Amino acid sequence: MENEKTELLRVERLKKYFHTPYGVLHAVDDVSFTVRKGETLGIVGESGCGKSTLGRAILRLHEPTAGRVFFEGYNILTYDKGAMKALRRDMQIIFQDPFASLNPRMSVSETICEALLIQKLYSPRDKEGLRKRVLELMELVGLAPRLINAYPHELDGGRRQRIGIARVLALNPKLIICDEPVSALDVSIQAQILNLMQDLQDELGFTYLFITHDLSVVKHLSDDILVMYLGQMVEKAPAAALFEKPLHPYTQALLSAIPVPDPDFEAKRITLKGELTSPIEPAPGCRFAKRCPQVKETCLGANIPFRELGENHFAACTMV
Ligand SMILES: Nc1ncnc2c1ncn2[C@@H]1O[C@H](COP(=O)(O)OP(=O)(O)O)[C@@H](O)[C@H]1O
Ligand SMILES: [Mg+2]
Repeated sequence: MENEKTELLRVERLKKYFHTPYGVLHAVDDVSFTVRKGETLGIVGESGCGKSTLGRAILRLHEPTAGRVFFEGYNILTYDKGAMKALRRDMQIIFQDPFASLNPRMSVSETICEALLIQKLYSPRDKEGLRKRVLELMELVGLAPRLINAYPHELDGGRRQRIGIARVLALNPKLIICDEPVSALDVSIQAQILNLMQDLQDELGFTYLFITHDLSVVKHLSDDILVMYLGQMVEKAPAAALFEKPLHPYTQALLSAIPVPDPDFEAKRITLKGELTSPIEPAPGCRFAKRCPQVKETCLGANIPFRELGENHFAACTMV
């Protein structure tokens, strides 16, 4: 029997630098983590901290500057174009705006069929087989059969994201990188899509890398959560531990910004001053220091190690 907890993806010291007219921009700087089969790693941080670049670098949509990416034990950065093309089926990505990634001239049926045909799972002549599979996939993602010939513009954001998910499922991937998949949706619809993704994982054992700027979105979905700041990892822990005992002042600030439904609970909100700047030629030391309410002299000058401070709980901070 296959062990559920086998490692599927391991990222080691991944870097992605962009050369800009203002200097070298460290979009992803030394990021390492492991994701086991059937589990979800949530990746959170403010807009601009390098989440999308990280997702794209893992898929080699942006060629990494340095580091290693192991998928099922093999370093895929050594793969040639042909091997990468074959691998892309196993590693899929779902984007924030499904409208942008769906072809407006293709109906639900055509969109899903296209994915099935790319997979070469069906012959284009097997109309009956294709139709049956399209309807199965539609049912799996909660789209009514009557929508089979609908076009993206006829559907709301939630349904469009369901088509996006159905298309990815049609490819039968092993890893799904979800880049802000619910951020463009109304809150009530966000919950529906998150529940769908959780159900699909429970039923079909998918592995997710779930990228979002909103910590509350990944709270229930994630096994582990990785918090990023200006390209670097600042904290990583099992989801419950991160919410219970955030160690890094940046994580504490992110958590304090989540609205609490209980009116009797007076949340101590930590307001961060300033905005995330771009990590062009960053100075050594903690990149959060300028905004940190607890900054000390030791935070500057030298890089802060990412240390294990509790069971599977890591943080890069001089305070802890
Ligand atoms: N193609 C690119 N060229 C130059 N800089 C880029 C490019 N893509 C992203 N960046 C920069 O990299 C940083 C991280 O961006 P991104 O990964 O999109 O962050 P996030 O997804 O967390 O919002 C930002 O400073 C952004 O401006
Ligand atoms: Mg992004």
